[in-house]
Amino acid sequence: MPGMASIVSHCPSSNPQLKAKSTMSQTSPGLYSYPFNPESTKLLADSDAISLNTGAPKFPVHRKVREAIIKAVEAKQDQLSYPSTRGMELLHKKIARDYGYSEKGIIITYGASQALYNILDTIGDEDVLIPAPFWFAFPHIVAQGRGRLKIIQTSAENNFKLTPQQLDQNITWKSRVLLLTNPNNPTGAVYTREELNGLVKVLEKHPRLLVVSDEVYNLLLVDDISCPSIGSWPEIHDRVLTINSLSKNFAMSGLRVGFIAAHPSWTDIYLQKQNYATSGVNEFLQHGALAALEATNEIIPSIVDALKVRRAKAMELLNSVPHTSYITPQSAYFFFWNIEHYLGCRTEAGKLIRTDVDLVDYLLQDAKVLVAAGSLCGTPGYFRITYAVAEDVFEQAIVQMKASLGKLRHSG
Ligand SMILES: Cc1ncc(COP(=O)(O)O)c(C=O)c1O
Repeated sequence: MPGMASIVSHCPSSNPQLKAKSTMSQTSPGLYSYPFNPESTKLLADSDAISLNTGAPKFPVHRKVREAIIKAVEAKQDQLSYPSTRGMELLHKKIARDYGYSEKGIIITYGASQALYNILDTIGDEDVLIPAPFWFAFPHIVAQGRGRLKIIQTSAENNFKLTPQQLDQNITWKSRVLLLTNPNNPTGAVYTREELNGLVKVLEKHPRLLVVSDEVYNLLLVDDISCPSIGSWPEIHDRVLTINSLSKNFAMSGLRVGFIAAHPSWTDIYLQKQNYATSGVNEFLQHGALAALEATNEIIPSIVDALKVRRAKAMELLNSVPHTSYITPQSAYFFFWNIEHYLGCRTEAGKLIRTDVDLVDYLLQDAKVLVAAGSLCGTPGYFRITYAVAEDVFEQAIVQMKASLGKLRHSG
């Protein structure tokens, strides 16, 4: 049976600071907060609504990871002092080898989230370019610092991937960072080598622009493709800050281990940030992370195989819902589901569904299913739904949503 739904932790709808800012500019993060009404919030807390809203799949923790953590705990008999802020050398070695940076360029962080904070919090009064659709926490993370959000809208025709032209048109003297998510959350799209080549050509013309490459889904390739890392282009290698974590690829969001891999000239400032925030990551967890990375070939294929089966089943189910469409995701475990047809409809009770957020609210009330509105990802008219849930739960959610959508009528 479905578990109780919960609002994802990255939807800080009740944060008064963010709400206050929402009137300030078009791209302020308040626009990307969930304006849940009190009844819906109560419904979520009280009911057993199905959540297709979260980004944390449930796969068992691999034996080698559990054993490594236990062994590290048992080995630590004498004292438990602060870990190094930079992280464990063994882990640096492994990541440096995998990403082609020197060990001094690696910082172990509490998840990709802390890696993003470390970097984005150092940006001054300059623009952070983010292609939409994006992971809905990005605007909130940028808002913690002084950087300004500049959204670049991509198009469904190009599978929601940033084109060289779009990038070129949006770079100004104020641009400091391009935050690229490859594979993308929420669309699951993966940039090809040729597509990245095109972007690199534009980036070469702008040597002050840093690239933050968020690659947290890069091993979850559900199609038979590769996911090139933009940091591997020698032309821009020294100004790409690659971010990854164990949360998504290894389905261990609770481990809270991530990292930055970059040219060593960047890392001092991020280390300072981290030093005063959390100091180093708990070493027991780092031992778990090292074990997982070393067992990549044992852990990832079984997760990917399970996702392949679930994606195929999910596609069948989604195809049965009238007037909706999607682009087949190649990675991650989301569908970015086009539901534009239903905007402008009325419910049986006569309530107008103006936006995707209204529709989320309606489906929560009527179908008892929670999904994420595309507006939160900067692209209205869509839902992000996860298929990394048990197949019967996904099926039940789609059946319930289909029935509720079937009750909507276009007015006039
Ligand atoms: C694109 C993207 N980046 C970063 C994160 C944060 O990951 P972590 O759990 O490692 O902090 C997420 C989590 O959903 C994500 O989707």
